[in-house]
Amino acid sequence: MPISQDFIYELKARNSIEDVVSSYVNRRRAGRNQTGLCPFHNEKTPSFTVFPESGSFYCFGCQAAGDVITFIRRIENLDYINAVKFLADRAGMTMPEDGQSDASYMLRTKILEINRAAAKFFHNNLARPEGRRALDYLRGRGLTDATIRKFGLGAALDSWDSLIKHLREKGYSRGDIIAANLAVGKNERYYDRFRNRVMFPIIDLRGAVVGFTGRILDKDNQRGKYVNTENNVVYKKNREIYGLNFAKNSNGGRIILCEGNMDVIAMNQAGFENAVAAMGTAFNHEHARILSKYCEEIIIAGDNDEAGRRAVMKETDVLRDAGLKVKILEVPSGKDPDEFLRENGEKGRELFADLLKNAVTDVDYKLRITNGDIDMTSAEGRVEYSKKAIAVLCDIDNRLEREIYAAKLAQQLEISKESVMQQIEQMKKRRRRADAKKQFREIGLRIGGYSDKINPEKVKFLRASRSEEQLISLLINNSDYLKSMKEKGLPDLFLTSFNRRLFSEAASSIESGYTEPEDILADLNRCFEPEEISAAHSIAMLRSGEGMGKGNGDIEEIDDFCQILRQEREKVSAVTAASMSEQEAAEAFERLKRSKLE
Ligand code: UTP
Ligand code: MN
Repeated sequence: MPISQDFIYELKARNSIEDVVSSYVNRRRAGRNQTGLCPFHNEKTPSFTVFPESGSFYCFGCQAAGDVITFIRRIENLDYINAVKFLADRAGMTMPEDGQSDASYMLRTKILEINRAAAKFFHNNLARPEGRRALDYLRGRGLTDATIRKFGLGAALDSWDSLIKHLREKGYSRGDIIAANLAVGKNERYYDRFRNRVMFPIIDLRGAVVGFTGRILDKDNQRGKYVNTENNVVYKKNREIYGLNFAKNSNGGRIILCEGNMDVIAMNQAGFENAVAAMGTAFNHEHARILSKYCEEIIIAGDNDEAGRRAVMKETDVLRDAGLKVKILEVPSGKDPDEFLRENGEKGRELFADLLKNAVTDVDYKLRITNGDIDMTSAEGRVEYSKKAIAVLCDIDNRLEREIYAAKLAQQLEISKESVMQQIEQMKKRRRRADAKKQFREIGLRIGGYSDKINPEKVKFLRASRSEEQLISLLINNSDYLKSMKEKGLPDLFLTSFNRRLFSEAASSIESGYTEPEDILADLNRCFEPEEISAAHSIAMLRSGEGMGKGNGDIEEIDDFCQILRQEREKVSAVTAASMSEQEAAEAFERLKRSKLE
């Protein structure tokens, strides 16, 4: 569905990239641009960059790049039309009429309608004799009828097609029911996806039923205990947070993260409306980012077993990366919150409130786990513990916070705070170096790849293109080199046309006064596509952060790369020798021989 250019221009003018990105990423100023932790991949050092002037973003780590519409498409998981609509809503603009009739928009609406009808059907089943077992199950788990209503719980009957029949009678097409993932099958044999289960509708923040999770009524430790809606246009399992529709209103500034939906429900029933859980998948960055919009602190109330502890450790990092404060609540004797509350009956609420009060910070929790079975009375044990503890403190980004824990640790180990701080700084430096190395390696691998859509000639001229990339990278990172590079015949020596164009444009940026790598790269927006700019960034990364520009052999290297380019040119001409005169061929051969001897 075409949307007019004018509309898009206005849309972008009213939704500046800095503004839009700021609701998702904490950024720091870096010259004219801003950097922050990339929302599209997991990282500890900021590689995500926003270029306000060009209205674009780029991640040095994962190469995500684009304008404000691309950003919203990716982060909100929307198609083009819905991303435009999202931004239009945000800026209070009215979408042009025809934008609404987009096919995927229609399907979304249809699936939400079907889900709502299905949720109602499941819920009403609880009052029917066929749904009696499910109702007894829910009550048997201590849920009151009010709670069952509040969460819209229901029953999928012990039947192959009761839901399909019901929805067909209401006029929904088989295709749409399948699209909603409520029916599965093929060759004219379709059946209900959820059968003989208690059903939990998954409700988003606008109150729409986006999907379901269904639990079997017996045999707790069976595979497929829980079955969830599969990803479709409305349900994305990596983003769904069960209970957030209630938790978002709890205004307490904190949210309790549980492992399962039953925990969330039991917590609500006990009066803790600020409980949430990820749905059928590990808690991830996307979840953390969403939660960070609704609270400042997360209290993790995970399962208190080995696997649970590992999960807590991971969740802690993910939540911290999203800028959240994290505490850990430990439920005694390996119970989950649901079991704990049920076991303690009337007193559950009060006892859980105590657990909440005793929740420890993530750092204290990690230190305690680290301490685990280390013998602190021996010197060896203390050394071992201090090493591990320092690694934990290293993860703290906030300096003040780091100092506070360093002081605490110093006291515990009876050493000076200064030496703890010094150890931390050393380890941080080591880590940064290792990170940078890893990043270079990864980018190097990608660049070395044979299937380069941006520079299709690379496959043909692999050796040459590598030298070209090194030269471009040296130029972008050291604009001073331009003059001498030009004198050496660059970029005319280049063999691949993309690299030649990139070098020329970088050169004109430098000639027009840009000297900083970011500025030169951002300036490329005037003449390159976002993917081409992504490639340019990767190339620039090959030689960035090496502490160059101090005459440390770069000039010799430039000569070497130029030499390689000349050799590769000779090879190319040798290949075309068949079409040369004898005289020309002899000359080319002589040249090739000479260049090999050099
Ligand atoms: P648990 O096995 O710890 O279940 O799985 P639970 O939450 O205590 O559930 P009850 O009390 O036995 O009913 C934790 C979460 O992992 C997901 C579900 O989201 C569940 O709530 N899960 C578990 C699945 O998606 N599929 C499964 O087969 C099992
Ligand atoms: Mn449980």
